[in-house]
Amino acid sequence: LSLVVLISGGGSNLRALLEASRDADFPARVIAVGADREADGLAHAEEFGIPSFTVPYSSFDSRAEWGAALLEQIRVWNPDVLVLSGLMRLLPPVVVDALSPRIINTHPAYLPEFPGAHGVRDALAAGASQTGASIIVVDNGVDAGPIISQERVPVLPEDTEHSLHERIKPVERRLLVQAVRDLATGTIDLEALSTASRPPAE
Ligand code: GRF
Repeated sequence: LSLVVLISGGGSNLRALLEASRDADFPARVIAVGADREADGLAHAEEFGIPSFTVPYSSFDSRAEWGAALLEQIRVWNPDVLVLSGLMRLLPPVVVDALSPRIINTHPAYLPEFPGAHGVRDALAAGASQTGASIIVVDNGVDAGPIISQERVPVLPEDTEHSLHERIKPVERRLLVQAVRDLATGTIDLEALSTASRPPAE
């Protein structure tokens, strides 16, 4: 299964996939890494000898134009699945519509709880005693697509956003690697997941 992974930050989820790929039996390969900025995580791609591309959001006049440029880059690689892991942007519809349902995302909360860019902070602010990590299929909503897998993570009284996020990330990484394995082996079928979740046509 060929993957393009999109990041914005440190890329620890990306690294988990790269390390899993070291195992010859792992049925997926990261064929390229993309970023919307000069992300630190691009260093992981370089270390593993994986091509990378940057489509800086700030270079474009609109989300739509950024999306068109991003889609053009992704099409160069024509991956089986696009993996968003730590991409801090909503994918523009032009990208979602072109690649759906072969797009998955990692989210540091137990969706549908705490969607959006600050899931960890929001769980803390809500005083939640537990949160989680989720792997979902990306649609044009905000973290609203069908859930592939998710797992609860406890919130401790003394948690900060950082400490809680650091407890969530290892769970997220494990779920992501397993989800990719399940996609590659057909245990999970993105088409089936997506059609099953779509409301019946009126
Ligand atoms: C991850 O928790 C991801 O779900 C969230 O931001 C974090 C990025 O971490 N969107 P990394 O860049 O994969 O280390």
